Amino acid sequence: MKHFFAPTSVAVVGASARAGKIGHDIIRNLQTSGFAGAIYPINPKSPEILGLKAYPSVLDADGEIDLAVIVVPAVAVLPVMEECAQKRIDSVIIITAGFKESGPEGIELEKELARIAKRGGIRVVGPNCLGIIATGSGLNASFAPVFPKAGSLALMSQSGALATAILDWSVQNGIGYSKFVSFGNGVDVGVVDLLRAWEDDPETRVIVAYMEGLPNGPEFMRVAKEVSQKKPVIVVKSGNTQAGARAVSSHTGSLAGSGEAYTAAFKQCGVIRAHSVEELFDLAVAFAYQEIPRSRRVAILTNAGGPGIMATDAVETAGLELAPIGADTVAKLRTKLPPASNFHNPVDCLGDAGADRYNFTAETVLADPNVDAALAVLTPQTSTQPYETAEGLAAAAAKYQKPMLACFMGGGAMTGAIDLLGGHRIPNYPYPERAVQALATMVRYREWREEPEDPIERFEADIEAVKAIFRSARAEGRVNLGEIEAREVVQAYGVHMPKSRVAQNAEEAARFADEIGYPVVMKIVSPDILHKSDLGGVRVGIRGRQEAMDAFELMMLRIRRYAPNADLRGVSVQEMVQTGREVILGSTRDPQFGPLVMFGLGGIYVEVLKDVSFRVAPFGRRHARMMIDEIRSAPLLRGARGERPCDLDAIVASLLTLSQLVTDFPEIVEMDVNPLKVGEPGQGAVAVDARITITEQSQ
Ligand code: COA
Repeated sequence: MKHFFAPTSVAVVGASARAGKIGHDIIRNLQTSGFAGAIYPINPKSPEILGLKAYPSVLDADGEIDLAVIVVPAVAVLPVMEECAQKRIDSVIIITAGFKESGPEGIELEKELARIAKRGGIRVVGPNCLGIIATGSGLNASFAPVFPKAGSLALMSQSGALATAILDWSVQNGIGYSKFVSFGNGVDVGVVDLLRAWEDDPETRVIVAYMEGLPNGPEFMRVAKEVSQKKPVIVVKSGNTQAGARAVSSHTGSLAGSGEAYTAAFKQCGVIRAHSVEELFDLAVAFAYQEIPRSRRVAILTNAGGPGIMATDAVETAGLELAPIGADTVAKLRTKLPPASNFHNPVDCLGDAGADRYNFTAETVLADPNVDAALAVLTPQTSTQPYETAEGLAAAAAKYQKPMLACFMGGGAMTGAIDLLGGHRIPNYPYPERAVQALATMVRYREWREEPEDPIERFEADIEAVKAIFRSARAEGRVNLGEIEAREVVQAYGVHMPKSRVAQNAEEAARFADEIGYPVVMKIVSPDILHKSDLGGVRVGIRGRQEAMDAFELMMLRIRRYAPNADLRGVSVQEMVQTGREVILGSTRDPQFGPLVMFGLGGIYVEVLKDVSFRVAPFGRRHARMMIDEIRSAPLLRGARGERPCDLDAIVASLLTLSQLVTDFPEIVEMDVNPLKVGEPGQGAVAVDARITITEQSQ
């Protein structure tokens, strides 16, 4: 990838002498951005472009070419690529649109483009992109109208248009970049290549990405996890499309759009997700400018009560802690601050504070060993001296080497001071909540990095038994497993199911019920009947022999009458699990990431409130535990309001088992274990019912 960011020579194929043409703008950008290497304009008609000698083809250029930027119409791109291959150019940017984004012909064209590139050993950025900027080598191989200053952010964007807007905004706000890549259709170079290219790039401190989709989810997760250990990766992902048009037959399937898969995947690989471009930059600037706080303990400095309280609320909501201000610090503050000040966090030096008082406060509080980060809130009042305050804050932050974020609230009165803060790499936010959010994200990132590995455990499982069940269902032309089969699959992986036998006559039903112990549940067994209760095919709470026999006869009668053609395989007599909290576990297959496992509380919690959490399988014990903690109703499982707590270890074990099952068997398209009844701590969990859909072909 070196030639994309530090080429010694660049050819622009489709360079034009005519102002207003993209091929003209790119030559001018290369000339004005400070690029010191050779520039070769390529144009069959013009001998000279913008004062540079032009060549009819790359093959005519006298020197070697490290990077070619192609900006000829789509029909001419493939022959140009062939010439690039002949010239042994290994890096090409294709600005031209009209490829896979434009319909079937474009799709074919792009496939052919990929073939030529592969054959010729050429790495390609684009097509349909804005180009590349690398400030370190003064390279503007794009048609972006602005060139940002050098800085430590590296930005990749799938959308060229959004990237132009971001660059424009960045120039106005003095945000600097190391590298910038608009990769458009991503025929070759994409998110994963750029993560790899920047993970050890000394110029890049923070990687920022705008993405709409990914060609290979698992590969992204693997690489992003490694890169995130080294530097923060912040992503805005747009376009939460549904998982596809196929019919969904499980709860899990209906609750899992691809948005859930991305959210889960990002959590699992430490990627920081921003939900808007605004948030992306709130976070990016904090990470780029400041060190990551050592702990959650933050001090709020303020000259105004209201904003101080807003900041305090935000700190609590975000899971940060108000640093306890030490007695020595309070004593020192008292020597200079009016008695009406608040000497504890949030430290309020009052509205009439000039720069002297505010900065004394900042200096004193930052010196406190209990304080690991500070948020300086300032509102413009008559005695306020924003500029001088900003200078003092910068000096204090530098002296104590502690992360500081600012919230200078207001308009014109604050502009100069905010610029000064920016010059000292102190990010400013218009409202306390946004500043606190940025700080909290930094702290969470540190905590993620410090977490030990979450190893994938393997449990004993009867893989052959599962294969046999799938084979026999397919042999009968079924992809929806019957309840008995689904139970056997889950059981083969060690999940406890209630005791159960299939009876062929009333006598047998009574005998099995006696053996299992009352009360029992009886259910009709037929692969043709999915909704058994609608046809009277389920009876719960059967308490004696006679009742079991009657239930058997009645079920048979009803099914023969209402579903005369159904393949009837008997009646299953099951132990009735009476106690325990109902939770649901499930899995669905995401087109990008593969098996996605879901957890939630049963009943209305999943059906109405959609209170569920997801992880991409396989995952380890910590993530299984996080899945439980993430649902809003988790306190109910932990034993809120006098309820007995549940056996959380049993839920974790069931989630890990499910994760292993769906990883071992990619042919499981969807499954629900619903309900899993969970007893009190130490009592375990029992899967009362399961449902599984597999692919038609084994995989
Ligand atoms: N080799 C070298 N130069 C060639 C050539 C070839 N094989 N074929 C054509 N050219 C020259 C043309 O003669 C012209 O130069 P001129 O101005 O001196 O005549 C120049 O290349 C451009 O060709 P032209 O036909 O004028 O095309 P254009 O500039 O109107 O459009 C694109 C070319 C690539 C800009 C256009 O096809 C396109 O894709 N636009 C969309 C770009 C976009 O939005 N990308 C995504 C951004 S996010």
